[in-house]
Amino acid sequence: IFRSKLTFFAAAKVSSSFPPPDLPEIAFAGRSNVGKSSLLNALTRNWGVARTSDKPGLTQSINFFNLGSKLCLVDLPGYGFAYAKEEVKDAWEELVKEYVSTRVGLKRVCLLIDTKWGMKPRDRELIDLMERSQTKYQILLTKSDAVFPIDVARRAMQIEESLKANKSVVQPVMMMSSRTGAGIRSLRTVLAKIARV
Ligand code: GTP
Ligand code: MG
Repeated sequence: IFRSKLTFFAAAKVSSSFPPPDLPEIAFAGRSNVGKSSLLNALTRNWGVARTSDKPGLTQSINFFNLGSKLCLVDLPGYGFAYAKEEVKDAWEELVKEYVSTRVGLKRVCLLIDTKWGMKPRDRELIDLMERSQTKYQILLTKSDAVFPIDVARRAMQIEESLKANKSVVQPVMMMSSRTGAGIRSLRTVLAKIARV
C-alpha cells in the first residue's frame, strides 16, 4: 500500500471544508518543525508532495492526501510556532483540536515528538484531548539521527513510562528518522493494518 501513488486532494482552513470521510484516516500531528511533512514524504516515497521547510510553520492548513484510494493521510499544521501572529496561531490550534477530537473516520493520530527536545506542554495538551475523545494515537520520536542512540532509547523509555496509565495510546513509542530511513519500514507495517483492504 505504501507503494501506491500519493495524491493531494484537499486543504482545509476551517472544519466546514474538510472532505467527506470516505477512507480510513491517519493524521500526523506535532510541534512546528518536528518533521511531519518530511515523514509523510519518506513513508510514501513521494519526495516533495507534502512540502517541507526549514522555516517552521510552513504547513498552514490541514492537508489531505489520498494513498492508493485505501488510506487518507493528513498533514496537520504544527503548533507552538513562535513567529506567527497570536490570532493565527490560536486559529490553527483550535482547528487541529477540533479535527483530532471530532473527525469521523480518523483511525490513528501519529504524534511526532522531536527526540532531542522530548514532550512539551502543548504535546501533553493534545494527548489529554485525545484521551478524552478516545482518539487512538501513537508516539513517533523524530530526527533520531540527530541524537546518540543511547539517548534515543532513553527518551523512548521515558515517554512510554509517562503514558503507562493512558488508555488510547498505542504502544510502543517508535524511533524514526526521515533522513536515514530508520523506523520507516516498521511504521509502514503498523499503518498498513489500518488501511481498507
Ligand atoms: P511544520 O509544517 O512547520 O509544522 O513543520 P513539519 O513538522 O512539517 O516539519 P518539516 O517536515 O517541514 O521539517 C522541518 C525541518 O526538519 C526541515 O529542515 C527538515 O529537513 C528537518 N528534518 C525532518 N526530518 C528530519 C530527520 O529525520 N532528521 C533530521 N536531522 N532532520 C529532519
Ligand atoms: Mg509541515
